[in-house]
Amino acid sequence: MTREKPKNLWLSRWGFILAATGSAVGLGNIWKFPYITGEYGGGAFVLMYLACILAIGIPVMMTEIALGRRGRGSPIDAIGRVVRENGGNPAWKAVGGMAMLAGFLILCFYVVVAGWAFAYTWKMLDGSLAAPSVEALGAVFEAHNASPLQLGGWSVLVALLTLLIVGKGVQAGVERAFRWMMPGLAVMLLALVGYAWTNGSFGRGVAFLFSFDASRLTGEAFLAALGHAFFTLSLASGAILTYGSYIPDGQSIARTTFIVAIADTCVALLAGLAIFPVIFANGMDPSAGPGLIFMSLPLAFQQMPFGTLFGVLFFAMVSVAALTSAISMIEAVVAYLNEKYGISRPRAAFGAGSVLLVISLSAMLSFNVGADWKLFGMTLFDGLDYLTSRWMMPLGGILMAVLAGYCLRGEILREELGLSPAGHALWLFMVRYVSPVLILMVFLHALGWLGFDPLARWYWIAGAIGVLAVAGELFRPRGLKAQARV
Ligand code: PHE
Repeated sequence: MTREKPKNLWLSRWGFILAATGSAVGLGNIWKFPYITGEYGGGAFVLMYLACILAIGIPVMMTEIALGRRGRGSPIDAIGRVVRENGGNPAWKAVGGMAMLAGFLILCFYVVVAGWAFAYTWKMLDGSLAAPSVEALGAVFEAHNASPLQLGGWSVLVALLTLLIVGKGVQAGVERAFRWMMPGLAVMLLALVGYAWTNGSFGRGVAFLFSFDASRLTGEAFLAALGHAFFTLSLASGAILTYGSYIPDGQSIARTTFIVAIADTCVALLAGLAIFPVIFANGMDPSAGPGLIFMSLPLAFQQMPFGTLFGVLFFAMVSVAALTSAISMIEAVVAYLNEKYGISRPRAAFGAGSVLLVISLSAMLSFNVGADWKLFGMTLFDGLDYLTSRWMMPLGGILMAVLAGYCLRGEILREELGLSPAGHALWLFMVRYVSPVLILMVFLHALGWLGFDPLARWYWIAGAIGVLAVAGELFRPRGLKAQARV
């Protein structure tokens, strides 16, 4: 069977790396990572998050890129083609569909958070953040959220910008923007860490992030860490798979994946190092929730030289980082509508965008008039986050790992990944045993079907992986033997 010809490719070797980093680095790193780390008690959570990135995030990301490049298209079409090439069951396309849906649902609440970053760039300028204390800044944040007009206005602005850019086609724009954006963000973060070092309670911040209390290694926190690993690397949401489909043949997938994952993790850790010292120095509670960076950082900006300028630049950078992530969430849907139904990109973007506006404006109401509209005890905003991060993305991840590890003929992914024999064996071990077992344990625990907390008894996990690996290697169906032969 001849392979699908690529229609769109990145302009340069760096194209995918820039765009995927742009997708990965976003509010997940600067807003969500610090606040959930605060909620789950610091170091233990950071450790679990890093373990999830290594054991699950990186192997799944390689798989997604390989599937995208092999199938050349939106998640549904790409997975469909790869499975067809392999004589497998076309039902696997549903995994692509679920990923696209997850990306879209994430965007529905992400535009609200990105709206905060945009609004704060403006508020830095007009002086409304010149409040003397954490409490006063908390009040500014609450007042902002209490007004549906303000909050909704900024969310709509973000949504429209996203749709406009996606409608035009991402390659040229995203690649160009990224050449200056990423270094800029890194410099800003380093400067903020420098400030935290000299003026904050740096020691306490570092201790909070990196020293851990074993009693906080719980299944519940592990579920959050796992979900966040998927979220922060933009996995199982169509973004990486679709961007992967624009990579020219011959580029190393493993190297690319490592660069993106390392950049993403560094930004998250730097954000933590910039934020927690300021929080402790000002007597703030690290578990203050989603408003954490908006209540703490403006205080640091007020106290530093050229603080206003710095603050404006910082929130502007965060806004751009959020925008490049937002773009990647809806790229899959637009690519799909364009490829499958021949709908032009701008039309596809605005068609999907109208649904986006309705859902995101409803999610925005969770902070004001709709604060009491709850389903299963959650507002729409929280519910979208919970559903995507805790369930849809890990589920997509486990399915992709199983597809790659058990259902595809060996040569296809071996060819795409182009790893050394030992590297391939390691990747295969990860997608066959480690990722599925870990994700499954976390799911069973979350559903309450596991009578114990898997993390308190980690040897259960190690044992299950071991038994499965031995059984899997002994009783492997014939077709799979070819894949393992190195
Ligand atoms: N990775 C992005 C962030 O950290 C969020 C994202 C999730 C982007 C899913 C695309 C798809 O902000």
